Amino acid sequence: MAITRKWWHDKVAYQIYPKSFRDTNGDGMGDLRGIISKLDYLKNLGIDIIWISPIYRSPFVDQGYDISDYYAIDPSFGTMEEFDELLTEAKKRDMHIVMDLVINHCSDQHEWFQKALKDPYGEYGEYFYFRKGVNGQPPSNTRAYFGGSTWEPVAGYEDLYYFHAYAVQQPDLNWENPKVLQELYTMINWWLEKGLAGFRIDAIINIQKDLDFPSYAPDGADGLASVVRMVESVNGVGEKLQDLKKNTFAKYDAFTVGEVFNMKREELEAFVGENGHFSTMFDFSANCLSDGPGGWYRNKTIAFDDFRRTVFQSQMECLDIGFLANIIENHDEPRGSSRFLPEHAQNEMGMKMLGTVSMLLRGLPFLYQGQEIGMTNCPMNSVEEYNDINTISEYRLALEAGLSEEEALEACYRFSRDNARTPMQWDDSSNAGFTSGTPWLKVNPNYTSVNVALQEKQEDSILNFYRKLIALRKSEEFRELFTYGDFHPVLEEETEILAYCRSLGQKKVMVIANFGKESAVISDDFFGDCRCLLTNDTVRISENRLTLAPAQVVVLTK
Ligand code: GLC
Ligand code: CA
Repeated sequence: MAITRKWWHDKVAYQIYPKSFRDTNGDGMGDLRGIISKLDYLKNLGIDIIWISPIYRSPFVDQGYDISDYYAIDPSFGTMEEFDELLTEAKKRDMHIVMDLVINHCSDQHEWFQKALKDPYGEYGEYFYFRKGVNGQPPSNTRAYFGGSTWEPVAGYEDLYYFHAYAVQQPDLNWENPKVLQELYTMINWWLEKGLAGFRIDAIINIQKDLDFPSYAPDGADGLASVVRMVESVNGVGEKLQDLKKNTFAKYDAFTVGEVFNMKREELEAFVGENGHFSTMFDFSANCLSDGPGGWYRNKTIAFDDFRRTVFQSQMECLDIGFLANIIENHDEPRGSSRFLPEHAQNEMGMKMLGTVSMLLRGLPFLYQGQEIGMTNCPMNSVEEYNDINTISEYRLALEAGLSEEEALEACYRFSRDNARTPMQWDDSSNAGFTSGTPWLKVNPNYTSVNVALQEKQEDSILNFYRKLIALRKSEEFRELFTYGDFHPVLEEETEILAYCRSLGQKKVMVIANFGKESAVISDDFFGDCRCLLTNDTVRISENRLTLAPAQVVVLTK
């Protein structure tokens, strides 16, 4: 496949959740100074692109994904001068900063919405979706992502509502209004002018509405139907996204990664092909395997077979089209080790295996903060210890469905977004070296044994393993192969082995991981006189027989 080379193709990215990364002024919340102070750490890990979750001014109802001023840094993170300093310091180290772009909705505290509330039938009312009720009921029966109706009554007006796909405090912006688009494009270009490398684009598939706002057959006891039903039933988002790209990103050769769920498979090329809406988008297909029929408490454990099949399928589908962004976890997901590894492999060795399997796939690897040291889900003693708006609503949902408090808490332990949001564990001093004050969210009690400082000292730590893994991916010898090389599954007849081959010209690399509980012995001509590039254990090859311990991964070449 002929691909036009792009500056970002061979890069490794890292997501920072700024509120939990590093606090430098003792207020218990991470800040820009904290990020600047850790740039060398990230450089040393091999990171090129840093995506920072929202740092714009926000009331933090949804942790900054509710923006009240797109042109300002929230004071809890620091100042615009500090942000500029971050850009300069990153550039010095040949690193690229990518910000979150939250433009499906803004905060109800945004000036636009405040003006709209005062005069819903005036100019700013057109910035949002205000609708009349139907027969004394909200305009339709869709359920917001965080629970409850997508329609919120407007105070002081009879029978008038506004639409929000997420929280009540996150009104959706009207993408049918050219004025809104102009405001957004101007804002995006303003940031790109500053020297941003690009954006991670939040919740973007939701911008296309069915302007009739129909009702759907209820799918829950609340009589509502998930707003996903509407998102999946509409066409035309592509035109909006092309227009967005043409007026902003394209002019700067910016890197964009879309947060896209519910895309139609046949649209893959339109999204990430040569002239796609985005540079790349996250592959969430494996994460979605846990989705139950509604509510975290009905979520499923992922079977290895499904995991392997899904990963391979995504890889194969995108092979001749473009690049996906591969993740194990992010700020909306539980820690990946608890989700994708069988219980017996939920340990250091397993985490190294999972990291290897994910990072050497075709596509852009994104690490999430703490993944490189093996941070895990955090046990909470009660629902009060959670902060996340979505977790609270999922907890309630579980109780309403008749689960006990203990069971509801267990569902949160498995799937809460706060699992990934607990403070980064830097060392074994109090609060894991994250803050000298009181952390905004509980620190995972395992910080005394899982932290950066400790792993710096251990040669075989997860952190040092990730360093080797990234170095291998970016090595002179294999960079081309891992970036542009072919992908194909191998050893599929082995029921507990995940193995694939990457190849380019004469060069060939095989990644083989044992997800099984027992040692595995595999025969293949490839093993004959091969060379091991990386493993999390000792290599055992005799003639053409390879023996893998449980949770062992090997990366071989010939
Ligand atoms: C995205 C974000 C998530 C946020 C939501 C609403 O899914 O990743 O954290 O809650 O959008 O902005
Ligand atoms: Ca701080």
